[in-house]
Amino acid sequence: MKKILIVNGPNLNLLGTRETAIYGELTLADIENNCQKLGQELKLEIEFLQSNYEGQLVDWIQQARNDADGIIINPAAYTHTSIAILDALKAYDGLVAEVHLSDIKQRESFRHHSYVSLRADKVICGLGAEGYEVAMRYMAEQLGSL
Ligand code: DQA
Repeated sequence: MKKILIVNGPNLNLLGTRETAIYGELTLADIENNCQKLGQELKLEIEFLQSNYEGQLVDWIQQARNDADGIIINPAAYTHTSIAILDALKAYDGLVAEVHLSDIKQRESFRHHSYVSLRADKVICGLGAEGYEVAMRYMAEQLGSL
């Protein structure tokens, strides 16, 4: 079975309680449940992770080199700052989809630039939690898992 790593960055552990007008009412556990269910349907094994630490995110991306056919990443605030995460993704040969719950291009100007988009094969913004599902369907199509 093809394997997808879903990596979430800082403060996404607070989803459901954090700025709900922007990020929605679902918790990260709700989003993981939805992704695991869809994974069964799409015949994708899903590993779903979150960290508030940049180095931890880099370590997981490096480990995916030997372990995962694709990475779905919501780097959260590190999107806009982290050359380290960009470099780790550049060292990864599989598919990369970048997901943001909100539409970063319609928000403050400091959110408009994404380092991760320089490597991402697909970028999905502004669809809320559904963005993760769109990214999974993209992976399934590209990897021919169905
Ligand atoms: C986010 C957008 C980022 O600008 C922000 O720092 C986040 C979440 C999103 O999913 O919309 O923490 O990545």
